[in-house]
Amino acid sequence: MKLINDIKDKARRLDKRIVLPEGTEERTIRAADQVIAEGLAKIILIGNPQEIMQLADKFKLENIDKAEIIDPLSHKMKDQYVDMMVDIRKHKGLTRDEAMKLIENPLYLSVLMIKNGDADGEVAGAANSTGDVLRPAFQYVKTKPGISVVSGAFIMIHPDSSFGDNGVMVFADSAVHPDPTEKELAEIAVATARTAKSIIGMEPRVAMISFSTKGSAKHDMVDKVVNATRIAREMAPDIQIDGEMQADAALVEAIGKKKAPDSKIAGKANILIFPSLDVGNVAYKLVQRLGKAEAIGPVLQGMAAPINDLSRGCSVSDIVGLIAITANQSA
Ligand code: ACO
Repeated sequence: MKLINDIKDKARRLDKRIVLPEGTEERTIRAADQVIAEGLAKIILIGNPQEIMQLADKFKLENIDKAEIIDPLSHKMKDQYVDMMVDIRKHKGLTRDEAMKLIENPLYLSVLMIKNGDADGEVAGAANSTGDVLRPAFQYVKTKPGISVVSGAFIMIHPDSSFGDNGVMVFADSAVHPDPTEKELAEIAVATARTAKSIIGMEPRVAMISFSTKGSAKHDMVDKVVNATRIAREMAPDIQIDGEMQADAALVEAIGKKKAPDSKIAGKANILIFPSLDVGNVAYKLVQRLGKAEAIGPVLQGMAAPINDLSRGCSVSDIVGLIAITANQSA
């Protein structure tokens, strides 16, 4: 709870402009109303203005008139954004006619607003799939310089305070990149450590997770994690990273001492990096459901601007929380 309050306080101070492309989706418009009421960010809602105001009326929302509302069919910057789209995607053969159609799609309009400096971040996904939210972002906002892959981190708050930092851990990649190479896995580890530091002030202790601890098993899949650990250390010598290790060795002090006695991370890890999305996605959902942890995210990292994707099963408070995190990321 304190963690979320800290994130909200920082968002309030930053006062960023967050665009919500799903402006006519019920939970989104309710979240927008709450964000404005709590002063967490300036909100830009995309959708038919009349429909948005009718919904605000129907749900008795009192703050939506303070949002900027943009009609995707008649946005004043449409022509300028289309020029940018054609320029950015000319190597892929995008025509002006195709761009004219795409810009009417709120998910494309949002990323062009960010690209042009007209918004600071985006939250979407209550009504659209991960792929549909991310593709426009990959194509137009792209990755940060020096980063080749976008990934998704979850802040996990576990009721057992003996894990991580008082129960707080960060898991990645649990949302985006199905089968990273060893270099991509190293990038994901470094990006996650930086996310954890900047958003929740965590001093990262990163464990590269495998089914093997320090050579206990031999397999190509183990080699991938061993090599990713070496590359991640070379990329970020300032961050404490160790592996390969099993999840129990990473999290439980007595087991860490037994299986990896020379490791400074074993038994004390607060960041777990999984070898593939299969593992990362299953792990966070099991810890959330069976372990009764709170899961905040996914926080997308590696993108040149903060764009975050909701689960379609999200609640209004999930959206409010992710808007606050997005504002923090755009600092
Ligand atoms: N990072 C950066 N850029 C990427 C990434 C990435 N991880 N993945 C794809 N791209 C880029 C490509 O280079 C390409 O760029 P280009 O058009 O300029 O050449 C563009 O994005 C489109 O690439 P595709 O390969 O066509 O991407 P596709 O749309 O097929 O897949 C996607 C991307 C949708 C993210 C895919 O990897 C995916 O489905 N991932 C799993 C998402 C998911 O379902 N997660 C689990 C649910 S989330 C949850 O449970 C919270």
